[in-house]
Amino acid sequence: MPATLLSGREAAGALLEGLKSKVKELDPKLVIVQVGEDPASSSYIKQKFKSCEKVGMRSEHMHLPPDTSLDDLMNVIDKLNTDADVSGFIVQLPLPKQLEDKVPEIIRAIDPKKDVDGFGAYNLGKTFLSTEFEHLPPATPSGIIAMLEHYKIQIEGKHAVIVGRSNIVGKPLSIMLLNRNATVTVCHSRTKDLASLTRLGDILICAVGKAKMITRDMVKEGAIVIDVGMNKTEYGLVGDVDFEEVKEIASAITPVPGGVGPMTVASLIRNCVRAKERQTN
Ligand code: GUN
Repeated sequence: MPATLLSGREAAGALLEGLKSKVKELDPKLVIVQVGEDPASSSYIKQKFKSCEKVGMRSEHMHLPPDTSLDDLMNVIDKLNTDADVSGFIVQLPLPKQLEDKVPEIIRAIDPKKDVDGFGAYNLGKTFLSTEFEHLPPATPSGIIAMLEHYKIQIEGKHAVIVGRSNIVGKPLSIMLLNRNATVTVCHSRTKDLASLTRLGDILICAVGKAKMITRDMVKEGAIVIDVGMNKTEYGLVGDVDFEEVKEIASAITPVPGGVGPMTVASLIRNCVRAKERQTN
């Protein structure tokens, strides 16, 4: 039987709908800093502003030239940190070449109270502790958890296998699932016999950035499959999972596009509401 489709558009719509009254009450503002013209970033940012509009949240695009220096970007961050009208802001990644290896420094400069991407050490550290300290968790893992919750998929007691160990998806997601009592395996580029591990996953999450790398033979029958990949190919945008093959063996699967992407955006907006809430109280 083909898998149930886990629609990020539907789940994100529900999450955003639930935020509307808080947005009206608190009037938060999100700022997105973009450096340069990366086309994928421009498209993601457009989605983020669209969702802000949907919930009635104020937003601003600070679009800086591609040759922006570290000093100039740090000055912008300082201003956003101290501007009381800005509830939260993000610096869209990737950054141009001259700033690429400065990302840790740039993230460190963002006030943790306004770090609505949840990328900084303070917010990651809180996320690490337990679910009750998850104030501004990283948006993609948080969106994946929200997706599982929306479709009433139990996490506790499940074996979650994550492929990919990035600081913004794989690593924090492993902790968030562990804190919800899943048993977690994290696989990566040096993992030996990947398929033998992915086949153990009751929940299989792939966040690698390699088109269709998860094939049918790598998936346990009846697994829940979450595809974080967004790969541009000659056939259009495809995930890390071979959707057509894997949907025949999984019990539920996210599409690309329209799966995890909208959940990341909705989580970012939820974080911005939470940030403003904390700043108000
Ligand atoms: N680039 C791709 N995804 C993201 C994200 O969630 N936040 C930021 N800042 N950059 C990204």
